[in-house]
This record gives sequence, structure tokens and C-alpha cells, in this order.
Amino acid sequence: MTARIHLSPPDVGPLEESFVIAAVRSGWIAPLGPEVDAFEQETAARVDRAYGLATNSGTAALHLSLLALGIGPGDRVVVPTLTFAATANAVVYTGAEPVFVDCEAGTGNLDVPLVADLLRRHDIEGRQVAAVVPVDMFGSCVDYDALLPICEQAGVPVVEDAAEALGATRGARPAGTFGQASAFSFNGNKILTTSGGGMLLSDDGDLIAHARYLATQARQPVAHYEHTDIGYNYRLSNLLAAVGRAQLRRLDSMIERRRAHRSRYAELFANVPGVRLLAAEDGGANCWLTTVVVDAGQAGWHAADLGAHLAAADIETRPVWKPMHLQPVFAGARAVLTGAAQTLFENGLTLPSGSAMTADQVDRVCGRIRDFLRHRPSTRLEVPEPGRRHDPEPASAAVPAL
Ligand SMILES: Cc1ncc(COP(=O)(O)O)c(C=O)c1O
Repeated sequence: MTARIHLSPPDVGPLEESFVIAAVRSGWIAPLGPEVDAFEQETAARVDRAYGLATNSGTAALHLSLLALGIGPGDRVVVPTLTFAATANAVVYTGAEPVFVDCEAGTGNLDVPLVADLLRRHDIEGRQVAAVVPVDMFGSCVDYDALLPICEQAGVPVVEDAAEALGATRGARPAGTFGQASAFSFNGNKILTTSGGGMLLSDDGDLIAHARYLATQARQPVAHYEHTDIGYNYRLSNLLAAVGRAQLRRLDSMIERRRAHRSRYAELFANVPGVRLLAAEDGGANCWLTTVVVDAGQAGWHAADLGAHLAAADIETRPVWKPMHLQPVFAGARAVLTGAAQTLFENGLTLPSGSAMTADQVDRVCGRIRDFLRHRPSTRLEVPEPGRRHDPEPASAAVPAL
């Protein structure tokens, strides 16, 4: 029996273990302590932000950042429709309304010209956009060179949802430094994990201080538990911060491994008609998840066919997120659409990308993909898209030797 290969499992080992044991022995078994302080400072230093606030999830970090910016009922906040639900949920928690905007076909990131159009109108039925929350999709940064000046000119703050992007860069700047505030996730499937956790980062000390106060049940600094605001229990445990500190020391090597996986996949699909990698051109991506996008008309097979072939060998894949504007819970929400997100949802497949994947496991995944490509079910497709052709070559001719 071979073990199941997961999409992006935690990569933890002896270093994490030694940090946790030291934290337990220190006696700080609480959602505060020296490990939390050090983790905040080390993460902020790593990404060149002045301040960090460790939280018990990335969602909490997003929620706090919006609250600290004063977002609330009556506000509208631009959110990419192609994201994980947490981005939109954090907006809804504040009482504000998400306005979904479509994505670029090449990267899956926010379509900046669409945002520009929206902000140029500068109000939606009489109300202004109160914030924009771009998401660095699967570890590839948004086009901030284009987005930030547009938002700045419109006076609209930006909260970078960098949940998946720790260690990525755009130009010389690290993910997590864009906008007034940014949020990382340290969930179990992320590039750096604390099992569950997150961090809010900003260069604005007042914003972080206010978020810290809200995250600590909004306790006034008096002994008798005085409260003048509704607060939250959002702080990260000292024990989990210790895991994060160990992971930070291994971050570069974990990113290198994910990048190596992407290179293997890129070679494998290089000559396969109708298949491309999402954000393939982004040399600054941390390669958290590698995604293939399949034009079934050209390829002669669907992304889901490959997913099923891998699932039969106990290899996990996932479709790209179902866009928020198609989710029942957001039925009727405002949305500015081109169809790009829906196309990626229908044609994208994320492949095993974890840094703990062994060489044997990578070989197993690649071998299974090669096997699929050699016997790909092109004849099962009903009608090729107009103007597109089925590859007339034998399937094996398109597969590069590895
Ligand atoms: C884009 C995005 N935003 C927000 C989150 C929420 O992070 P968390 O699960 O730590 O709450 C995640 C991941 O889970 C995510 O992928």
C-alpha cells in the first residue's frame, strides 16, 4: 500500500518539536508570551513591515484589519470573486457588503482595470467603496504597481490578503507589504503553518495597537475588566507561535521545494497542447499551489479527467475555487464580471505541491500524470470548441521524457 499524497500537508519536524517543548517548559501556556512577541517581530522583519499582530487565524487578521480601518455597516468593499470564502466573510463580519470583481485569466488575480473602472465611478448607487481587499492567489502577488496608485488616487485603503503568499515577492517588495494592512494565514495547509493561526501586519502603529486591543476582548487597561467596545478573542497561543518561529527558520528551504515541484510540472506539461500553469510567468511566486489550466477543446480532455485519474491512485487534487458570485450564500451580491474566474473554476486543477513531498512521491505524481497524458481520453470529448483542434499526434508524442 502506498500512502495517500495530499495537496499541501504540514511540513513539520524536529525543529518545530524542540521549539514547542521549550515553550511548554517556559510555562507560558497562554495566548500571549515571549514566543508570540518574538514571532511577531521576526515575521514583520522578514517581510519588511514595522509591526505584526499574531492572531488565531488568517480570517481573524483580515477581520481585525477591516475593523481597524473603520469598515462597518453601510460600506462596500471590493473583493475578488476568485478567492477563498474567508476574504468575503471577513467583510461580512464587519457589517459591510462585499462587491465581487473578476480576475485576470493568466494569474487568477484581481482584474485591476475593472477595479479602476469601479473606483472611477467612485460610488455605487450613491455609496463609496470603503476598501479594496486584493488576494495574492496561490502565492502570486497582485499587480500592485497598477492597483496601489489607483486606490491611493481614489482615497480607498487596501488590505492585502496575503494568506497564501508569505515569501512571495513582486519586484523588490515582499508579499505582506502592500496596502495599509496585510494578513497572512498559518493554517495547516499553508506554506508556513502554526497548525492554525495568522498575522496582521502594518507600518501603522496605531492601527496595530487598536487591532491588538480588539483582539484581546477590548479590555480597558484597568484591573476590574472594564469594556467600552465589543472585542474578540483572536490572539495566537504562545505554544503555536513557537511552531511558527521554527517554521520561519525553514521558510526559504520550504519555498525552494515548492518551486522545484512547479518546475517538474512545468517540464511535464511544456509540450502538451491546451495546458498552461496559472501565473507561470511569475518568478516571484512562492509556488504555494501549482495549478494547471486546461483548454479542453485543445487538449482533448478536461481538468477533471486528470483529477479523477490521480484520485484513483490516491493522489489529492482540487478544482480552483468556486467564485464567490456563484456561491449560494452570496446569491444576489453585486459583482463586476468578465467570466474569467468562472473559466478558471471550470478548467483549473491544483496539483500536490507540499514541501514535505518526498522525491519518491513527486515521481509517483509525475509518473501518474505521464500515464494519463499517454492514454488521455480525447475521444470522450463531445464537440471541440469552434476554431480549436484536437491534437492529431499520438498522445505519447506530446509528453516530454523525464
Ligand atoms: C485567500 C485566503 N484568505 C483567507 C484565508 C483564511 O485563513 P485562515 O484559514 O487562517 O483563517 C485563507 C486560507 O485559509 C485563504 O486562502
